[in-house]
Amino acid sequence: MAEKPASLSSFLFATSLLLTLISASLASPTPSSLYGTLLHCLSHSTNSSTLANNNIVFDRTNASFPTLLQNYIRNARWNTSTTTKPLIIITPLQESQVQAAVICAKSIGIQIRIRSGGHDYEGLSYVSKQPFIVLDMPNLRQITVDISKEVATVQAGATLGELYYNIWKNNKVHGFPAGLCTTIGVGGHISGGGYGSMLRKYGLSVDNVIEAKIVDLKGRILDRKSMGEDLFWAIRGGGGASFGVILSYTVKLVSILETVTVFNVERSLEENAIDLAVEWQQVAPTIDDRFFISLHFSPSGSDENKTVKASVTALFLGGADEAVSILRKEFPILGIGKENCTEMSWIEAMIWNPDDPKIGVKPEEILLSRHLNSAVFLKRKSDYVQVPISKEGLEGISKKIMAGTVVLGFNPYGGKMAEIPADATAFPHRAGNLFKIQYTVNWDDPSPAAAQKFVNEARSLYSYMTPFVSKNPRSAFLNYRDIDIGINTFGKDSYEQGKVYGAKYFNVNFERLVKIKTAVDPDNFFRNEQSIPILPSKS
Ligand SMILES: Cc1cc2nc3c(=O)[nH]c(=O)nc-3n(C[C@H](O)[C@H](O)[C@H](O)COP(=O)(O)OP(=O)(O)OC[C@H]3O[C@@H](n4cnc5c(N)ncnc54)[C@H](O)[C@@H]3O)c2cc1C
Ligand SMILES: *[C@@H]1O[C@H](CO)[C@@H](O)[C@H](O)[C@H]1NC(C)=O
Ligand SMILES: *[C@@H]1O[C@H](CO)[C@@H](O)[C@H](O)[C@H]1NC(C)=O
Ligand SMILES: *[C@@H]1O[C@H](CO)[C@@H](O)[C@H](O)[C@H]1NC(C)=O
Ligand SMILES: *[C@@H]1O[C@H](CO)[C@@H](O)[C@H](O)[C@H]1NC(C)=O
Ligand SMILES: *[C@@H]1O[C@H](CO)[C@@H](O)[C@H](O)[C@H]1NC(C)=O
Repeated sequence: MAEKPASLSSFLFATSLLLTLISASLASPTPSSLYGTLLHCLSHSTNSSTLANNNIVFDRTNASFPTLLQNYIRNARWNTSTTTKPLIIITPLQESQVQAAVICAKSIGIQIRIRSGGHDYEGLSYVSKQPFIVLDMPNLRQITVDISKEVATVQAGATLGELYYNIWKNNKVHGFPAGLCTTIGVGGHISGGGYGSMLRKYGLSVDNVIEAKIVDLKGRILDRKSMGEDLFWAIRGGGGASFGVILSYTVKLVSILETVTVFNVERSLEENAIDLAVEWQQVAPTIDDRFFISLHFSPSGSDENKTVKASVTALFLGGADEAVSILRKEFPILGIGKENCTEMSWIEAMIWNPDDPKIGVKPEEILLSRHLNSAVFLKRKSDYVQVPISKEGLEGISKKIMAGTVVLGFNPYGGKMAEIPADATAFPHRAGNLFKIQYTVNWDDPSPAAAQKFVNEARSLYSYMTPFVSKNPRSAFLNYRDIDIGINTFGKDSYEQGKVYGAKYFNVNFERLVKIKTAVDPDNFFRNEQSIPILPSKS
């Protein structure tokens, strides 16, 4: 294997021979031959020759390989010795290197997985059963903010924290509606929808995207105009990984006031948590859309005296006096006063955590920290609730929560979410949904038995929730990746398999996504266990 070829011509000869051999036999390339073949192909597919040997290709023998891989693993379950590893990690520094990587992976016939922030709960961006390459995007993280036009262009490998920081640094009265975890990558987050605490006022991230750049199957860079409105629609909620490699999104910034208000209120079962939850279901999805009031049910107390804690956490895009006067009228059971509220800037609200006040820490320190190589063991699932759950129903759910470890988070919809038609973007869960549920369970015991126990617990609660949540299909949120709802094995019935999870993630938008997928990637090169399938006649 000629990593640093002494003689370029003999190296080129050897690798082109390999390429010929591989394409002739269609055999899965062995790791060492793959490295050489890929390097050779990249140097021929990249316009500027200086890019070719720019140290962006790492094979498994490379000392940096484990660190590179682990830096963006965010679920420790996919960081074991038995987890399948990529054969190669490519870390593009320039967009042309992404083009070359796609062209070469396709010509060699090896799968790629695209990773921006690595937060995929099932690790689909860096784990595959097939031999594969990881295209690792974190170096492509440029952000440009144009306040006069109220737009920002952000590369896929940037984090949400970096995006928020760059907006805030420019100006204090603009923000962007996206998730609350600052290390999430833009590439996966926005392509999958992207929700955060401004969604009732401004919708999802995808509702504020005005332009995108993607590298397609042929290695071309397409913008909104050249990709066309179909593909541009698909990569706003349909996920990026089925269609190509997203290089960047251009987003419309939204107006925010210099002061917003947050609060957190906790009640145990003994303090009427259930009555609070009954009222929350009426109020949170219908109140003034400047409010985002989430509710979390978690097991609490000691073994001898277990209870369930209901935590109400809120952001109000306005001052505390107004928040309190609205809440006293509309949500009296909350019993909130001004003393329970904290006024702060929007940027502080984006990093505010009532359990960890981070006193004395500068916002930028949190926003810009990537927390490389840190992960817990976790499982997540999602549901949508369309009919309020009765008091008896909530009592049963709380007993189930009390006996276990899973936390249920209720995120209210309504407001702007209910005004946007279900087919305006590929993200379909709009009017008619009162709130989304997230099932959360984290653990730190690395044993397979522990994983089995906690995953089973989440599944059992999910099964218990069946009567209370959406049906036909039982909807799910793509960004809360959950392979329990169906996977594709790409056999003869790949379309039917795809429809199982596809109908849950995309509801009425599934068929259009399939058509677009079939048109832009008829060979199904861009795929994973839950990608959009192609039409059966083309399979
Ligand atoms: C701690 C934590 C908090 C979260 N909070 C929220 C939240 O508040 N709101 C919310 O909506 N979601 C939230 N999520 C879910 C998160 O939005 C999704 O996991 C999202 O897909 C992560 O994007 P990523 O780039 O970090 O992930 P990755 O694992 O890199 O990618 C996720 C998926 O997108 C694909 N992909 C990534 N980059 C590209 C690209 N450039 N082009 C094409 N395809 C690409 C991957 O192949 C994979 O299929 C949270 C997740 C975690 C772990
Ligand atoms: C690891 O890979 C990088 C990037 O290709 C390269 O620069 C470096 O020399 C490799 N290190 C070793 C020890 O092979
Ligand atoms: C290289 O440049 C040519 C001409 O400028 C362009 O058509 C082609 O798409 C480029 N290829 C890559 C991989 O950048
Ligand atoms: C049990 O916990 C609840 C909630 O924390 C508390 O109100 C109650 O007094 C406790 N009961 C006993 C017997 O400790
Ligand atoms: C509001 O704050 C007061 C004073 O700290 C406290 O007694 C009260 O319990 C709080 N109310 C709520 C709803 O948390
Ligand atoms: C992955 O496991 C290694 C030990 O094998 C550990 O050093 C590293 O911190 C872990 N990283 C993550 C993200 O879990």
